[in-house]
Amino acid sequence: MRRPTGVPALAVLCSGQGTNLQALLEATRTGRLRARVAVVISDRAASNALARATRAGIEAHFVDPKAYPSRGEFEQVLLTLCAAHRVRAVCLAGFMRLLSPVFVRPYAGRLLNIHPALLPAFPGAHAIRDALAWGAKVTGVTVHLVDEEVDHGPILLQELVRIAPGETEASLLKKLHRVEHRLYPQALRQVLAGRVRLTGRVARLTGA
Ligand code: GRF
Repeated sequence: MRRPTGVPALAVLCSGQGTNLQALLEATRTGRLRARVAVVISDRAASNALARATRAGIEAHFVDPKAYPSRGEFEQVLLTLCAAHRVRAVCLAGFMRLLSPVFVRPYAGRLLNIHPALLPAFPGAHAIRDALAWGAKVTGVTVHLVDEEVDHGPILLQELVRIAPGETEASLLKKLHRVEHRLYPQALRQVLAGRVRLTGRVARLTGA
C-alpha cells in the first residue's frame, strides 16, 4: 500500500467504542486534519475501536496488559509500536488505563486525552454519571495534554454542554459526543502545528 509522505502519523489508544477514533479518521479523510492514523492499539480484545480500525484498513493491535509482568513492560510494547510507525502524536480516546512515565515522557506535549467533563470537575471513569448525580447544570468536554496523573495535564480546549432538566446518561453522552468529535481533531491540529505554548501547566494556543 502506498503511504502519503510528510503527513504526521498518529497512534490512537482506545479501550471501548471508538467513536472518537472514528471522528479522527473522518477528519483525516476529509482533510480537516492533516494527519493519518497509522496504528490503533487497544488494551481490550473486544474493543469496537479495533473493528473500526480494521474496517478502515488501519493496523490494529490488541496488547494484553495481563501478558506482561509490569506496567512498564506493557508500555514498552506500545512505545515499540509507535516507534515502528514513526508516530508524531498519540491520542487517548477512551483508553481506560493510567500511563506511567515510561510512555508519557517520550511523548510529552504530543500525548492528548479527551474527557467528558470540564476538568478539573468530575475526573475519572464516571464523569457523566458523576455530573448528573451532583446536580450540575453544565458540564462539557476537555481536551488536554497527558501527564502522569489521571485527567490532569494542561488544558488545550474546553467546551461547555448544558444539562437539561430530566437529562439521562444516554442523552448527555450523545450531546457530549457531538462536541468531542469536533473538538478532538481541532485540538490535535493545534498540537501538530506546534501552536501550543506552555507556561507551567497553562497552555496557550497561539493560532486558535
Ligand atoms: C469519551 O467520552 C471520552 O471523553 C472518554 O471516553 C469516551 C470514549 O468514547 N475519555 P469512544 O470510545 O471514543 O466512543
